[in-house]
Formats: sequence, structure tokens, C-alpha cells
Amino acid sequence: MKTTILVTGGNGQLGQCIQSIAKQFPALSFLFVDKNTLDITIEKNVLEFFEDHHIHWCINCAAYTAVDHAEENRELAHQVNVVGARNIANACHWNGSKLIQISTDFVFDGKKSLPYKETDCVNPLGIYGRTKLNGEVEVKKNCPSHFIVRTSWLYSEFGNNFMKTMLRLGSERDQLSVVNDQIGSPTYAVDLAEALIQIIQLDTDNYSVYHYSNRGHISWFDFAKTIFEQTNNNLILNPILSRDYATLAERPKYSVLDTTKISDEFALEIPFWRDSLICALSKVK
Ligand SMILES: NC(=O)c1ccc[n+]([C@@H]2O[C@H](COP(=O)([O-])OP(=O)(O)OC[C@H]3O[C@@H](n4cnc5c(N)ncnc54)[C@H](OP(=O)(O)O)[C@@H]3O)[C@@H](O)[C@H]2O)c1
Repeated sequence: MKTTILVTGGNGQLGQCIQSIAKQFPALSFLFVDKNTLDITIEKNVLEFFEDHHIHWCINCAAYTAVDHAEENRELAHQVNVVGARNIANACHWNGSKLIQISTDFVFDGKKSLPYKETDCVNPLGIYGRTKLNGEVEVKKNCPSHFIVRTSWLYSEFGNNFMKTMLRLGSERDQLSVVNDQIGSPTYAVDLAEALIQIIQLDTDNYSVYHYSNRGHISWFDFAKTIFEQTNNNLILNPILSRDYATLAERPKYSVLDTTKISDEFALEIPFWRDSLICALSKVK
């Protein structure tokens, strides 16, 4: 019997990345659902869906991810990131499915200057990070068979993300200012998708929190600079400080994740961010 994997938020960025590689794994059968086919905030629908399908694993990619809008739409962010996570966790537990919950570097306040380990104290700075953290709590409470995978700075050829925004702005403008005082690790969402499938294939019972990002760390300015260098765009790029670029939500100044635990546990060879960026850019072209 094939292993059946439910992917919620299946038309979001990470969901589409999983879709893009799904065919490489013929022993796995994927069910992709999105808000229209399975709204994770509606408990009854989630439970019925799990009863109607025999699901071995669920990757919960569904989330409210608009970091700034979350400050003004607290209730919706809570519904999707907390209530939705609870509904999925309960349905997984009651139906014997294993859960991979995707979470974020924004659970940290960025006051450290060394990569964050899974055991480090959390202290989200905004509503998005707080709701994602509360979602983790719901998963831990309601579904013992869980892997919580925190990741950072996702980008890919799919959906809306920093790389695609830079490519668009680079074709429209001669000059651009990008913040240079937020440090993190850009993560190619296709690399993350492959890592998630590796977790499923290894099928261990080391249920825990894990950190996954591409290797290396840079600022958003460095990331933009490399995107323009790699695409031979010689627009003028100005480094600025976060305080000169007002946003509704405060972001961590430093959110580099220590990925030792996930790479050791699941024998992952995590690509360096620049190599993955070159790969992603080749897909966009
Ligand atoms: N993007 C990043 O930089 C980043 C960084 C760290 C962690 N993460 C985490 O990684 C995961 C995947 O992120 P992503 O970049 O793929 O985000 P995304 O592109 O925004 O995808 C999220 C998906 O969830 C769907 N969704 C929203 N409300 C829903 C509901 N009530 N029921 C079912 N689906 C719903 C969205 O649909 P609509 O678009 O129609 O609302 C969207 O398709 C999330 O857990 C996110 O918190 C992301």
C-alpha cells in the first residue's frame, strides 16, 4: 500500500514546491488541498476529510503568512495559525496520522548572535510569530506524533517571495534600497520540500522540533545583491537600516537557525544558500 500524504495549503508556495517534486516519489501518494477544498479553520470539515481518506502523514503548509497584515488581522491569523493547527493536530491524532507542522524563525526575538537551536527560548516580536508559536503549542498538546519544522526566509519559483519581488522591481527600477541589518538564512522551498519527504521516508519516531534552512547566513541586502549579480542586472542597490524602512510588524534582527539536529537525525545534506539561489533563478528564467 502506498503511503498517503495530505498537504494542506497545497497551492501556497511550499505546497507548490512539494507538488513540483511529488512525481519523483512513486511510492508516495499525495493529496493536495487548499482553502477552497479544505479550510483548516473549520473543525468539522477537517475531521470529515480525515475520516473519508486514509491519511498516513499530513504536512500542514496552510498558514496565515502576511507578517504585517497579521498585526491588523489578529483574529484571522489566530484562526488559521492556531485553531487550524489544533484542528489538524486533533484529526491526525484521532486517525493515527503523523503530522509535520511547518513553523518559522519568527518565533525568536533575534537578540542572539549565534544560530538558534531548537532548545533556545522563544519570544516572538509580532502577531504572526506569536500565532505560529501558539500553533506549535497546539500541535504538541494534541498530536504526540508530530515533527515541527521551523524554517526561514522561504523563496522559490512559486508564489510570492523576496526573490520574485526583487526580479520584478529590478525590471522596473534603476535604484532600490534594501535592509542590511536583518540577518538570516534564505531557504529554497524546494530544498525544504525534499527534506520533508526525507523525514517521511525515514519514518522515525523521534518526534520533536527541528530547524531547517539553507546553509550560510546573510542580510536581505546581500541576498538582493546576489540576485542582481546572478541576473546581470546592474541597478544601484542601497543598503538601509530597518529603522529607515517602516513596517507594521517588527522583525528579528538575527534569526539564523542551527540545522545540526535535523541534518544529523535525517541524514540530510543541506545545500548552501547561494547554490540553491542559482538553481531557483534558473527555474524562473
Ligand atoms: N514564506 C516564508 O518566508 C516563511 C518563512 C518561515 C516559515 N514559513 C512557514 O512555511 C509555511 C509555508 O509558507 P508559504 O511560503 O508556502 O506560505 P503561503 O504561500 O502563504 O501558503 C500558505 C497557504 O495556506 C493557505 N491558507 C490560508 N488560510 C487557510 C485556511 N484557512 N485553510 C487552508 N489553507 C489556508 C493559503 O491560501 P490563500 O493564499 O488562498 O490564503 C496559502 O495557499 C507556513 O507555515 C509559514 O508560516 C514561511
